[in-house]
Amino acid sequence: MIVAIVGGHGQVARHLTRLLVARGHQVRALVRNPDHVADVEGDGAEAVLCDLEDLGQDLDGALAGADAVVFAAGAGPGSGAARKHTVDRDGVTRTVTAAERAGVPRLVVVSAMGTDDPPDDDEVFSVYLRAKAEADRIALASDLQVTVVRPGGLTDDEGTGHITIGRHVPPGRIPRADVAAVVADVLADPGSIGHTVEVVGGPTPIVEAVAEIATLPGGRP
Ligand SMILES: NC(=O)c1ccc[n+]([C@@H]2O[C@H](COP(=O)([O-])OP(=O)(O)OC[C@H]3O[C@@H](n4cnc5c(N)ncnc54)[C@H](OP(=O)(O)O)[C@@H]3O)[C@@H](O)[C@H]2O)c1
Repeated sequence: MIVAIVGGHGQVARHLTRLLVARGHQVRALVRNPDHVADVEGDGAEAVLCDLEDLGQDLDGALAGADAVVFAAGAGPGSGAARKHTVDRDGVTRTVTAAERAGVPRLVVVSAMGTDDPPDDDEVFSVYLRAKAEADRIALASDLQVTVVRPGGLTDDEGTGHITIGRHVPPGRIPRADVAAVVADVLADPGSIGHTVEVVGGPTPIVEAVAEIATLPGGRP
């Protein structure tokens, strides 16, 4: 499988690249900073320069030929409300449109817990949650085969290989390495298509937890 990762130099993205490459897949890491090319190539990916916020750049071309795309970009904790819109929301919209035009059938979105009922105020974190919520709705309403993965608070701890997953789970934290392992398994599991899941650290082996997604309410009709 050829997997394009939008936000390819992100922390979850780099774990994901290494996992997918180890499983024999080809990864195309979309990065915006030329200084990041060597890192993602070192992980085993092909690097493609593409800035989501530069509408003049050829996102369709960057995705063409891929079997799946993972949206793992984010404006990041230091950014203001405007970039929550241009990256976290509009970045997904652009990715959906480009994937549809390029004929890429499958999309996994790395979203966030707290997006079911985001607060209505002007705090940047609230704007972020609303941007993620809107992005998820746009992705799920598209013609693509979409899975939305909403992790709790991300940590840099070593992956445990164990999680709790569900349409709704109690708030918690999860290592980025485990989020990447969830996304890698979701990509390989058509039963997850159409589902939105929350995921935090927990007791269930990732492979078993991901297999359960198909039994949750929702999903592709
Ligand atoms: N932090 C949390 O606790 C938390 C919780 C739940 C979900 N999430 C979400 O999980 C996802 C992955 O998190 P993470 O920690 O792996 O993120 P990260 O390390 O901050 O990576 C985000 C990536 O997005 C890229 N990016 C930003 N603007 C871009 C643009 N205009 N064009 C192309 N790429 C762009 C960044 O590139 P540069 O390196 O060039 O800036 C960066 O490599 C994010 O969507 C985040 O919102 C985070």
